[in-house]
Amino acid sequence: MEISKETIDRISTAKTIVFFTEAGISAESGIPVFRGKDGIWNKLKPEELANFNAFLKNPEMVWEWYNHRKKIIHDSKPNSAHLTIAKLQNFFQNVIVITQNIDNLHRRAGSKIIYELHGNIERNYCVKCHTFYNQEIDLSHGVPKCECGGLIRPDVVWFGEYLPEDQLNAAERAAENCDVFFIIGTSGVVYPAASLIYTAKENKAYLIEINIESTEISYLADESLIGKAGEILPEMLEKIKSKIGST
Ligand code: OAD
Repeated sequence: MEISKETIDRISTAKTIVFFTEAGISAESGIPVFRGKDGIWNKLKPEELANFNAFLKNPEMVWEWYNHRKKIIHDSKPNSAHLTIAKLQNFFQNVIVITQNIDNLHRRAGSKIIYELHGNIERNYCVKCHTFYNQEIDLSHGVPKCECGGLIRPDVVWFGEYLPEDQLNAAERAAENCDVFFIIGTSGVVYPAASLIYTAKENKAYLIEINIESTEISYLADESLIGKAGEILPEMLEKIKSKIGST
């Protein structure tokens, strides 16, 4: 896999770099992706697990699934892709992460500006009074309930729900105002998040896609790099360091 000179030049002279990262960036940390051969949605139904009506109908099942995902996430670690993005903060003025991932791995890797479009699995809230609960949820006494009697749910965005307005607005401003926009590990089919790719393109950002295969949005990229994010990003960082050192 060859990273072009133009890509290294564009990154090296950038002031603001945005990383739009999705499930694929966490695949090398052992967290399963959603689509494709081994994707979660091949085996399980999103309408039964990632949907508010399904939660009201069968909160036990939804909580069991989220606790299973929490365990996988707790047992995982940021990989070299997350860590490289955090390291880039030492070289560039603004490094911004926009993610649909709920796994907290960018924060654990040390990234400072993160806009989470689909919430965060570490947080929970009451569907009735909106009190937040950040502690571990104990399922041994059944579905967790708030003091007000309302059901507690994970603070993640399910199908049919709005994205958190403050996070989406901040992500849109970042996509409008960046010099380089990375698209990492996404199939690019879930909206409105995927529309940020078009926003960045319309605003003349240089688009770099990193994915193990080409996707529906590859044609938009100025450079499409096929391979694992955890291998390509560290290699790119070395090239950027030599370039910055040589100017
Ligand atoms: P997908 O599962 O749709 O796509 C994951 C992408 O990552 C695919 O294009 C893979 O080819 C790529 N990939 C896998 N391993 C990789 C690696 N090591 N390096 C680089 N790329 C790799 O996941 P998302 O696009 O994140 O929403 O899905 C978006 C949303 O759909 C999720 O937030 C979730 C899901 O349904 C909800 O649950 C509401």
